[in-house]
Amino acid sequence: MKNKNLTALLEKYDVPTPRYTSYPTVPFWNEATFDPQAWKANVQKHAHELAHEGISLYIHLPFCEQLCTYCGCNKRITKNHQVELPYLKSVLHEWHTYLAILPSKPWVKEIHLGGGTPTFFSPENLHFLLANLLPTIQLASDAELSVEVHPNVTTYEHLAILRKLGFHRLSVGIQDFDPAVQYIINRIQSFEKTKQIFEWARALGYVSINADLVFGLPLQTSESIRFTIEKIQLLRPERIAFYSYAHVPWKSASQRRYNENDLPKAAEKRALYELGRDLLLQQGYHELGLDHFALAHDRLFQAAQAGKMHRNFMGYTTQRTPLLIGLGASSISQTPDAFAQNEKTVETYQEQIAQKGEATCKGHFLSKEDKILQKHILNIMCQAYTDWKADLAEVPLLQKVHIRLRQFATHGLIELRDTSLQVTEAGKPFLRNIASVFDAYLFAKENSNLPLFSKTI
Ligand SMILES: C[S@@+](CC[C@H](N)C(=O)[O-])C[C@H]1O[C@@H](n2cnc3c(N)ncnc32)[C@H](O)[C@@H]1O
Repeated sequence: MKNKNLTALLEKYDVPTPRYTSYPTVPFWNEATFDPQAWKANVQKHAHELAHEGISLYIHLPFCEQLCTYCGCNKRITKNHQVELPYLKSVLHEWHTYLAILPSKPWVKEIHLGGGTPTFFSPENLHFLLANLLPTIQLASDAELSVEVHPNVTTYEHLAILRKLGFHRLSVGIQDFDPAVQYIINRIQSFEKTKQIFEWARALGYVSINADLVFGLPLQTSESIRFTIEKIQLLRPERIAFYSYAHVPWKSASQRRYNENDLPKAAEKRALYELGRDLLLQQGYHELGLDHFALAHDRLFQAAQAGKMHRNFMGYTTQRTPLLIGLGASSISQTPDAFAQNEKTVETYQEQIAQKGEATCKGHFLSKEDKILQKHILNIMCQAYTDWKADLAEVPLLQKVHIRLRQFATHGLIELRDTSLQVTEAGKPFLRNIASVFDAYLFAKENSNLPLFSKTI
């Protein structure tokens, strides 16, 4: 595609759009109809009926010692490490509430410790959490156990203890190695320290390391992207998440600490992605789904090749389990019928757990239409393809999607047939826009002017 055309398209489609780690997206959950008792009953039903399919566990560990100003995640900044044990006891209390409705020793296919910064917690306290949790479950032989780490606060002991407990995947926060970018996002992180984490992890037997990078950060230039990706080549992570910077200052006030004029504009931002992508492809990485890359021997690449890559609140995964149980403040859980989210603030979460052993504050039960549209949005986000012929009669929106999709076909972003679409190479930057055609909530008139999502590019 000619550059001029691409620039025009990037401007046209650079509108607030969800990243579709769920459908319906959280702002459109119908909270009025959510009943925590019905939620529990639903978890119990699926846990028993689909016990053989296993569970994914996500544990949110929200603390960080220092505020990275670009960060859009749910976190609590503190240097007080006394918060660790009470928080972990609440997480275990919550898990025991779930255990009462799960089959005995439930079968678990995935555990992910996310944050915040899980390695804010001492190695002993992480051991305390897992030594209490692991004996209550059966781990599948191919279970994936992974943890997010910030190199500045991660020690050899952290990695050694987690490895001993069965963890074999790391996700290392990097974002950018350019000192000017690191300074403005308040995240000074040396290459040497990051390299040390990779060396320790490999020596300990971690089989897959993911690196988180972000494009579109303030002061980022083609030179900083080139510099960062050259350093990445020396580390050779198996996976790379090359996230589009989500500017959501109404949600993350720290993003107001830098000047919006320091943020690259849509076309510049996309050029940063394309430069990064081209360099990664030259280094032998494969592009997967939205903003993700992997080496050929990594399981995520193999899952993508086999059409089995999945997407949920944890991002792209190789596992698809009917039950995702999220423990900790702000965590989201999911069954085939419903979503539920825990209280977001640490204090409220801990109070609720102390009072009743659970801290669900909102959720959504999926209608038949939600489930069908969810399937098509997942197909597009994970396989870049979907076919809605079999569902046409069920969902009125599906009769209108062809008209809405024509603009993407005209621009060469999809190959559109009567009731199916295939995203083209040129269409990859617009995956979220294409998926959003199947989002019944986004197009409902009354929702159109709310600042809910970051822009697409
Ligand atoms: C919750 S953070 C945990 C990482 C870990 N605490 C660390 O700092 O290394 C997970 C990842 O989300 C991504 N992220 C956070 N805020 C973002 C934003 N505003 N836009 C895009 N990606 C973001 C970053 O790549 C980050 O590494």
